[in-house]
Amino acid sequence: MYNIAIDGPAGAGKSTIARMAAEKLGFIYVDTGAMYRAMALYFIRNGISSSDEEAIEAACKDINISIEYQDGEQVVLLGSENVNAFIRTEEVSMMTSDISKYAAVREKLLDVQRNLARTKDVIMDGRDIGTCVLPDAGTKIYLTASASERARRRYKELEAKGVPCDLEKTKQDIILRDEQDMNREISPLRQAEDAVLLDSSDLSIEEAVSAVIDIYNKKRG
Ligand code: DC
Repeated sequence: MYNIAIDGPAGAGKSTIARMAAEKLGFIYVDTGAMYRAMALYFIRNGISSSDEEAIEAACKDINISIEYQDGEQVVLLGSENVNAFIRTEEVSMMTSDISKYAAVREKLLDVQRNLARTKDVIMDGRDIGTCVLPDAGTKIYLTASASERARRRYKELEAKGVPCDLEKTKQDIILRDEQDMNREISPLRQAEDAVLLDSSDLSIEEAVSAVIDIYNKKRG
């Protein structure tokens, strides 16, 4: 099986770009952030605080996260419920960053992610794919963009959905989430030594997708 790992900070365009590249290459796209988001949703729904590590550890034993594909779209299942429609709010985003620092949460998802990559050609995106989940991935990309550009994109996305938002607040949320994700003890966000850096600040989506495919073609030879 061939694995492509894409890591990078919030809002760099990882999911859009990885999904499109996967379609072109005939790979399965795996969005690991969505799995962490489903866990955060469970904690929110059950009134478990992000600072209560003991309760989070205990709850991890009861949570069952899996993914399946419907019409080519990744669907995240919490138990048997499709939670895709509930995991993209700002509340869930921040909770996800807060709880993804815990070992119990990360261990829970590691096996699911590695099993997918063992059985299929995947493009997997997240924060620790090249450094921890798939250290032997054939292609590793660290996809980033300036904080202003990432905030602008996120703001436009929310605006298009009709969600009231504020550009400066969106930027502060992104910066806070990056700081947490980069500075946690277990599997922090960082560029793997053998990852190719791709800055999408001045690239269109199509240009970024082409750049990903070029990097893959060069690596695969
Ligand atoms: O990619 P995303 O914005 O959906 O990720 C949401 C949060 O999940 C992110 O702030 C940190 C966490 N995450 C992680 O810790 N490890 C991953 N592989 C993917 C996401």
